[in-house]
Amino acid sequence: MTISFKDRVAIVTGAGGGLGRAYALDLAARGAKVVVNDLGGSRDGTGTSDAAAQVVEEIKAAGGEAMANGGSVTEYEQMVEMVAKTKEAWGGVHVLINNAGILRDKSFAKMEPADFDLVVKVHLLGSANCTKAVWETMREQNYGRILMTASSTGLYGNFGQANYGAAKLGLAGLTKTLYLEGAKNNIKVNTLAPVAGTRMTEDIFPPEAFAQFKPENVVPAAVYLVSEDAPTNMIIGAGAGAFHAAYVTMTQGAALPEGERTAEGVARIFDKITDRTGETVPQSGSEQAMTIMRLLQG
Ligand code: NAI
Repeated sequence: MTISFKDRVAIVTGAGGGLGRAYALDLAARGAKVVVNDLGGSRDGTGTSDAAAQVVEEIKAAGGEAMANGGSVTEYEQMVEMVAKTKEAWGGVHVLINNAGILRDKSFAKMEPADFDLVVKVHLLGSANCTKAVWETMREQNYGRILMTASSTGLYGNFGQANYGAAKLGLAGLTKTLYLEGAKNNIKVNTLAPVAGTRMTEDIFPPEAFAQFKPENVVPAAVYLVSEDAPTNMIIGAGAGAFHAAYVTMTQGAALPEGERTAEGVARIFDKITDRTGETVPQSGSEQAMTIMRLLQG
């Protein structure tokens, strides 16, 4: 089965290079009309360039349709304007890949509040801005596919990336509520945790790994997750042609009887609380209260 994006309109943020560029090229090759958004800054978020226009040229040279947008995801009004222009040109927006990102790595002890603020602003609030800007259109169309970009740092942690990790797990949280709110309008929302050799990781990967982890090897997961038959509420990891899923799970837990609900009581049953036998993957927050009720009844 071929996955086609014919008659679909896609916006990819931060698509002037790295992973976003690779997503944009593949979507366009599959027939999508693509908005290549990128302000073209450096890795730490400073400066601007015509990176988006260059990717548009590449897409056009390959016979695809694309337009450049130099707006910053941190500016909600610019994202609203981008969506308005997209609809004016192409009539709708079916796919949004929230991919724009920057780094301000430092140990938390050395991290300035401004570094924390900007990283959360670009990744988390930037993705919320773009998603909000397309949300009503997707509801009206009864069709939407949205991908958030998380990271292993957000899911599992990484020394020196407290700001980035907080923003990235926030995006998985955003997915988990938006998938519920979008379901009745056929809006599917997923999270991708990529691993790729780009300028963001060029000083982390050794040269051999850099080639193996090329962005094109993440593209299949991103493109599937915004396709017509995409799942929803998934967290998928992808790198070098390997793929896996990550889950937020809940153990069966244990209850303390009245009169024993003390810190000492929790210490006593802590092994039981954290025992992973019978662990579940809740599909909404209310399942925590339901599990508690079941425990108390049982
Ligand atoms: P990259 O630095 O090549 O791409 C990020 C792009 O976002 C750049 O082109 C940049 O100009 C753009 N951008 C930054 N701030 C923006 C803003 N305010 N508005 C619009 N565009 C903006 O890095 P890469 O690796 O391609 O990263 C893409 C996404 O994947 C990021 O969200 C990153 O955090 C995430 N990621 C990447 C990993 C990797 O191994 N490369 C690992 C985990 C997550």
